[in-house]
Amino acid sequence: MKRYILIILILLSPLTVFLQADNLTSPLISIVPRPTQIVPGSGNFTFSAKTAFAVENQEQAAIARNFIDLFTRAAGITPALNVGSKEGQVRFVTDSSFKPEAYLLEITPQQILIKASDTKGFFYALQSVRQLLPATIESEQPVQNIAWSVPAMTVRDEPRFGFRGLLLDPVRCFIPKENVLRIIDCMAMLKINKLHFHLTDDNGWRIEIKKYPRLTEVGAWRVDRTDVPFHSRRNPKRGELTPIGGFYTQEEIREIVAYAADRQIEVIPEIDVPAHSNAALAAYPQFACPVVKDFIGVLPGLGGRNSEIIYCAGNDSVYAFLQDVMDEILELFPSRYIHIGGDEAPKARWKACPDCQARMREEGLSSLQALQGYFMNRIISWLGDRGRAAVVWNESLRGGNLAPSAVVQMWMDKNGECARWANGGGKLIVSDFYHYYCDYPYAMTPLRKTYHYRPALKEVRPIYQKNILGVEAPVWAEYIETFAHMSEMCYPRFAAVAEAGWTREERRNAESFERRFQMVTPMLAALGVHPAAPQLWNPRPYMRLKGTAQFFLPKLPSNFRD
Ligand code: ACM
Ligand code: ZN
Repeated sequence: MKRYILIILILLSPLTVFLQADNLTSPLISIVPRPTQIVPGSGNFTFSAKTAFAVENQEQAAIARNFIDLFTRAAGITPALNVGSKEGQVRFVTDSSFKPEAYLLEITPQQILIKASDTKGFFYALQSVRQLLPATIESEQPVQNIAWSVPAMTVRDEPRFGFRGLLLDPVRCFIPKENVLRIIDCMAMLKINKLHFHLTDDNGWRIEIKKYPRLTEVGAWRVDRTDVPFHSRRNPKRGELTPIGGFYTQEEIREIVAYAADRQIEVIPEIDVPAHSNAALAAYPQFACPVVKDFIGVLPGLGGRNSEIIYCAGNDSVYAFLQDVMDEILELFPSRYIHIGGDEAPKARWKACPDCQARMREEGLSSLQALQGYFMNRIISWLGDRGRAAVVWNESLRGGNLAPSAVVQMWMDKNGECARWANGGGKLIVSDFYHYYCDYPYAMTPLRKTYHYRPALKEVRPIYQKNILGVEAPVWAEYIETFAHMSEMCYPRFAAVAEAGWTREERRNAESFERRFQMVTPMLAALGVHPAAPQLWNPRPYMRLKGTAQFFLPKLPSNFRD
């Protein structure tokens, strides 16, 4: 009996009202990622032609205008926008006590009040409102007879991490600009704020560089081996036609970067060095080690021994070339971070190359790994002089000489090097391949496995947890051929990683996430992004990476050696 009294007391308590509103049974409140706190109110606020937004300045006005555009398109109404005014039902109020990106959202039947200390906070508050609206708000054409209402509530919210990213791979499967923009729309809705754009690799060079036109004339195109899977594709021969590929012009890149910036997203370009560089070296073979006598072509697949052909570390014209490329990259991407790769760099050619060996002697480098550290550090320091921070994959740590200013992205760490880096003061982004690689089939990486992963690595001591900047989910595209397939692989797993990046650990709950995600699915669908069907999310049992499951790895480990 006592137990029942306790249950009745709990049910009556205000705490429970809050929990019920945000728990599994509420069909109404479904915000992804889950906010810090939601307290329900009563009634609804309804947007109409008479609604006015009152904002304090032009920056806020730009945020509000983008949101108002949704109504113009989908509802055929255009709420007014009053800049520098308090007259309006949707009011923005700056409150400097809020943390970056945090917001308070108070919705009553009469008004919506948003408080934040920065533009991002106002933007994210509106993304929450967007998810509370009927999904038809994403429609490109006016839809009739819809009540554009959101339920009354108070939301307090702030991100757990400042770095919440995803990686797109237009190299293996070119992603036309229009699709990149659709992906950016979905990212914004999920409060993801970094787009890591993997623009160069063995299989293509995807960005126009004016000083080196062959990078796209030659490097953007490869032979057609689409009749066989990626890992079975034969390397190209000299003179073969190269019809497969594509690239972004600088104009298109500017458009993507501006579109993302309007949605509070930083686009981080990746120019991968010293390996994953066959496309660049196909265009400019003089930057490979002089011991390389083979024909260098853009690889249609894994490449076998050819993927061991990498930039020469002993040739100063290589660094000059990369600096020229970076000059144009910095012009196009205002991002704080520039990714310079540093993953999976086989060292066989460096070992045989007289120039690389001479460089090791001159610089007192005792290992080939340290030569890689030297290579990365030259670019890191050049970027640092220009106010940019370099991001590198975790293999770049292995020489023991990586510049401390580099940010390390952890994808496959077999010996705890990333936790040691963070414990020594280095910055880290967590992209553990086993949990966060969204190109792996759900049969191997079920949604729950992604969701339950804790990015606060337990090997990183509490006082150094702040060195974990955040999370990133890559979707590599060796085995992806269409946008529809990519959408299924990414969603809902991208959203699960977005929630790990935004929501504090104690507020995360996989069942709640899955229900909430299903509520926002129609919105993604309206943007042309169709997630995997719920019955595919969590197959049981699923393949583990050990033993025979290795066989099913979509990205074969043959060039994991470095
Ligand atoms: C990677 O997957 N090679 C970063
Ligand atoms: Zn060399």
